[in-house]
Amino acid sequence: MLIKVTRPTDIKSSEITPKSVFLNRRKFLKTAAVAGAGLAVGQLLPDQAWAGRKLDGIVKGRFATDEEQTSFMSVTSYNNFYEFGTDKNDPVKNSGAFKAKPWTVEIAGECEKPGTYAFEDVIKPHRLEERIYRLRCVEAWSMVVPWVGVPLGDVIKRFAPTSAAKYVAFETIVRPEEMPGQKRPILPWPYVEGLRMDEAMNPLTLLAVGLYGEELLNQNGAPIRLVLPWKYGFKSIKSIVKITFTEKEPPCTWNQQASHEYGFYANVNPQVDHPRWSQAKERRIGEFFKRETLMFNGYADEVASLYSGLDLQRYY
Ligand code: MTE
Repeated sequence: MLIKVTRPTDIKSSEITPKSVFLNRRKFLKTAAVAGAGLAVGQLLPDQAWAGRKLDGIVKGRFATDEEQTSFMSVTSYNNFYEFGTDKNDPVKNSGAFKAKPWTVEIAGECEKPGTYAFEDVIKPHRLEERIYRLRCVEAWSMVVPWVGVPLGDVIKRFAPTSAAKYVAFETIVRPEEMPGQKRPILPWPYVEGLRMDEAMNPLTLLAVGLYGEELLNQNGAPIRLVLPWKYGFKSIKSIVKITFTEKEPPCTWNQQASHEYGFYANVNPQVDHPRWSQAKERRIGEFFKRETLMFNGYADEVASLYSGLDLQRYY
């Protein structure tokens, strides 16, 4: 199974960034649809597909790019979430029945406080931060997303990992009844990911619970997902139900699927091409011309030291 490359929706990010404008436009377009106008698929979905609850008490985080943010519509309707299908608009179309509340996260493995915790108990002790990050998919497209979340490192500390904890493993929920893609063997389910402990503790690493100031929508990995802006997007695992501290390097779904194409590290690196396409450039969703891809997606100052001495051609 290979990550599919499809054409992004060609919506200028400047066109419809504010959600209210976008929803009003959808109302107008629905009326137009009745009158027989042709429509893009997303515009026929119920408004619930975009009905996130506003999050309170968000502070500006330490890391924010001032690059133009990708429109709310593109961020929430051009997605990779194979549990809901492999097309970019499958997640928004097929995730309506997914229940992200109530939610628990199991903490397991090499730590002093294992257990099953309510989502609120994992997040509430921390201040919500806005982090405006670049997201670079391995498929050579990119976005700028205003995430809301808490630093994963702060959360990890509360569970007191032992000295044997060298890695952190993550698992997505398995609910074929609510996630139609899981009824097919598109990938081995559950989707799994992993990080080295120092990567997990890096201040850039975010446990996201929202975007654009609202709770995460199902298509973006509600209610809780990783965001690792210096790594290809597939490391940013969605709808996490289990976090395990391990001594050994944990398995990662795409690496298991095609280890010659997708490595454990998956650091954004314009000098290491995917076997089937170049990684030197990327197409920012909403833009026409391609732009250069930056080493570590432009976050080298924050993360390059994590990999000093590592052969990045070999450990891709
Ligand atoms: N997590 C799960 N569980 N399943 C997936 O298919 N896709 C990954 C990642 N997390 C994926 C996942 C990929 S390939 C990308 S690029 C990002 O999610 C996309 O996140 P977004 O849809 O919020 O932009």
